[in-house]
Amino acid sequence: MDYAATGQEALSRVESAGDLDALESLRVEFLGKQGSISGLLKTLGKMSPDERKLEGPKIHGLREAVSEGLAARKQALEGAALEARLAGERIDLSLPAPEQPRGSVHPIAQVMDELAEIFADLGFAVETGPEIEDDWHNFTALNMPESHPARAMHDTFYFPDRDDQAREMLLRTHTSPVQIRTMLEQGAPLRVIAPGRVYRSDSDATHTPMFHQIEGLVIDKGIHLGHLKWTLETFLKAYFERDDIVLRLRPSYFPFTEPSVEVDVGYAFEGARRVVGGSGEGPGHAWMELLGSGMVNRRVLEAGGLGPDEWQGFAFGVGVDRLAMLKYGMNDLRAFFDGDVRWLSHFGFSALDVPTLSAGVGTPA
Ligand code: PHE
Repeated sequence: MDYAATGQEALSRVESAGDLDALESLRVEFLGKQGSISGLLKTLGKMSPDERKLEGPKIHGLREAVSEGLAARKQALEGAALEARLAGERIDLSLPAPEQPRGSVHPIAQVMDELAEIFADLGFAVETGPEIEDDWHNFTALNMPESHPARAMHDTFYFPDRDDQAREMLLRTHTSPVQIRTMLEQGAPLRVIAPGRVYRSDSDATHTPMFHQIEGLVIDKGIHLGHLKWTLETFLKAYFERDDIVLRLRPSYFPFTEPSVEVDVGYAFEGARRVVGGSGEGPGHAWMELLGSGMVNRRVLEAGGLGPDEWQGFAFGVGVDRLAMLKYGMNDLRAFFDGDVRWLSHFGFSALDVPTLSAGVGTPA
């Protein structure tokens, strides 16, 4: 048999295979189980030893040549396919930019970035938790056992089904469950903020069913109310970019803090606009409730796996939307979520306006 001619023919067909599928059929035709070259190899068994000595190397050589040819062609075809894809995906960077840049950073996103920047400077890390929470993290671990009256005040959205541990599932009503998650995951000491969406069944000019909070949590040894007050003052001065921020701390109640402190900030009217700053006392001045805070309750530390005789901490929770409205002078919370392009282009921020402490944390576009 003329193996050279068989080889020539096979190789020239391999060479002209137009795509990977055609090449694969040729591989099967020659080298597959029923393939012609595989068939030739099988004939070796029936040959006499002398014949085999003569024919063996030729048939093996043929098989070798054809499989090398197949591999080479495969590489060439794959290379060509990649070239074609790259050419197809080419981006013409010389295209002109749109005349007017479109889109802007939403004030809430901007304020969250500002807050992350301010707290990063104080050594706080950013943590997040799920918006779909279970009853234990959102309430029980925060010292609100079932039937606790504070639960009723949260206007909670519940899901119809429980999770696999039979826990009731809900949309988190505050960012405080992230306190529990972070303590359980990281232990102590801790210095974190947790910004994010929260949900309550409530809607008017100052309440939307979804809004934003930022939680703060510090756990360490020897932490006291003075640390809380200093931290809030420092943060609010940086955020409002003025030094005359005056806070009023009022005793309050939250199940997860003891003692609990509600914090008011002094403001004055400039026309119809409330401008934060100064003491809330005197004509034209008033106090506005801004955030809830307190020393972390012992039972919350325990739920977070920490020993309350060893560790203390403070926590606070503040409405991000409220902070944005105060700083940037919006009066209707609902506009935040309307998606009205005119509102967004008026109140939005340039994507290039990244908040930094050195350049000022927020300047409207
Ligand atoms: N979670 C509280 C709320 O949503 C705020 C808060 C947080 C109060 C942390 C005290 C400590 O109203």
